[in-house]
Amino acid sequence: MEVMRTVAELRALLAQRRPIAFVPTMGNLHEGHLALVRIARQRAHCVVASIFVNRLQFGPTEDFDAYPRTFEADCAGFEREGVDVVFAPLEREIYPEPQGFAVAPPPVGDDLEGAFRPGFFRGVATVVLKLFNIVGPQIAVFGKKDYQQLMIVRAMARQLNLPIDIVAGETVRAADGLALSSRNNYLAPSERAEAPRLQRTLADICTQLVDGNTDSSALEGRALATLTQAHWRPDYVAVRKQADLQSAGPGDRELVVLGAAWLGRTRLIDNLEVSLPR
Ligand code: PAJ
Repeated sequence: MEVMRTVAELRALLAQRRPIAFVPTMGNLHEGHLALVRIARQRAHCVVASIFVNRLQFGPTEDFDAYPRTFEADCAGFEREGVDVVFAPLEREIYPEPQGFAVAPPPVGDDLEGAFRPGFFRGVATVVLKLFNIVGPQIAVFGKKDYQQLMIVRAMARQLNLPIDIVAGETVRAADGLALSSRNNYLAPSERAEAPRLQRTLADICTQLVDGNTDSSALEGRALATLTQAHWRPDYVAVRKQADLQSAGPGDRELVVLGAAWLGRTRLIDNLEVSLPR
């Protein structure tokens, strides 16, 4: 495995290695990231992974400085999974001058996560496009854990005619249902024990939807109350259409239930897809 620090070195190395499958990350790897690498492995001759904590997608009061950075362990994990090249640039390699140009996401980027993290998807879309331009992959793999991010990256690839196949990986969970996340590291033991409630609350909505209770706003309201009673501070719980993340109407069957909530000082997000029976 090779570790590249600069765009020039990376481009020279990759010039003869197509097709390339790319897995962008912010590091602090867990099984969720590694599962994406396995998908990439199956799809292309050369697997490139990146580790870059992207300041542009963090708000001024968010955890950019505190975000866990575990470069050595990350490289060991990628190496074990057969990653061919790790791109781990310094910040000045990606942003050598103020990033005046940016990718402005469509209105869905201001909804859900975007409503609570203004500028988040602009920061994500901008760095993902830059990384795509640097790495030049034919395939890129993203996790469903960040459902809205996946949708926005797909829309960007379509609308900006990027010649890249965006592939989705299922959410990897701990045995108790908690979606793996680098931010789980912030949880105190008592919070870690409580954390699966977010997934259970979303799963409960799925059960009710399948049972024919399709009053989304009532379901959302009850879920928010459940979380609040358990001392969470929910940002949102929302039943949406899988295809475009717009509100679901009576005929819509392919749905996704998304939620974000604070547990102490940690913000967790999760989602579950559900198909309603005919
Ligand atoms: P990061 O949070 O490190 O996640 C990197 C990739 O791993 C994303 O595609 C994310 O959806 C996926 N992932 C995270 N947890 C997962 C889980 N439990 N199961 C499956 N996949 C999971 O997402 C980002 O970084 C950044 O926004 C990035 C795309 C790298 C741009 O900076």
